Amino acid sequence: MKLIIANWKMNPATLEEAAILARESDVKGLVIAPPFPFLETVRASIKQAMLGAQDVSGKGGTGAYTGEVSGEELQSLGVTYVIVGHSERRALGETDEQIAEKIRAVIDVGLIPVLCVGESWQMRERGEQESFVAKQLQGDLALLREATEAKKLTKLKALIVAYEPLWAIGTGTPETPQGAASMIQYIKRTLLASRGYTLTPVVLYGGSVNAVNAASFLKEKEIDGLLVGGASLDSEEIKKIVEIAKI
Ligand code: PGA
Repeated sequence: MKLIIANWKMNPATLEEAAILARESDVKGLVIAPPFPFLETVRASIKQAMLGAQDVSGKGGTGAYTGEVSGEELQSLGVTYVIVGHSERRALGETDEQIAEKIRAVIDVGLIPVLCVGESWQMRERGEQESFVAKQLQGDLALLREATEAKKLTKLKALIVAYEPLWAIGTGTPETPQGAASMIQYIKRTLLASRGYTLTPVVLYGGSVNAVNAASFLKEKEIDGLLVGGASLDSEEIKKIVEIAKI
């Protein structure tokens, strides 16, 4: 079964709405990543879905870091997957170095990072998408490589990459399934060529996925699942996507 992650972003507006959306979207095979303040309520509202977070602090443990949320805290709330390096956070100034720290913080507490990569439209027009994504992977996984080489990393269960071209996010214009599959194949090759990565790569596609186009992505062998934003705010729509992923 392919993996479907619902990225609620900064939605919905209230705790009550979050509880309803979680209860109505609660199906096996779905990971729900709500805003931090709703994690506990979503956890209490689901029985079959799993819990994800949209971000994490790069600082491990506890400490004087106002506004930050640690991997340990997320773990204690029942979170399993943590989205890291989403382009909407990179747009706010998050660097590859910070993302690398966050990935390590997630792995250190035994959670699974979902690293987002993807090029802008300008890069695509210049034909630079592969080299740019390779650079992101290299930068974002640098600390992972160092830690692996120093044999410090014992808790890495899995690392998931989500390929999300910036121009496809929230625009209603997704990448073609063939285009996404070909980039995902490239990402897998790049990961396997990197010494820091010894697991079987799991790579998702994200960007304007909905219940109508989901099947065309999910039938591509290379695409291991989907990261869904807007469409995940409609419980019927996200349940349809999960249903398609089961076939
Ligand atoms: P979208 O967002 O499905 O609304 O395009 C995807 C994402 O940003 O994860």
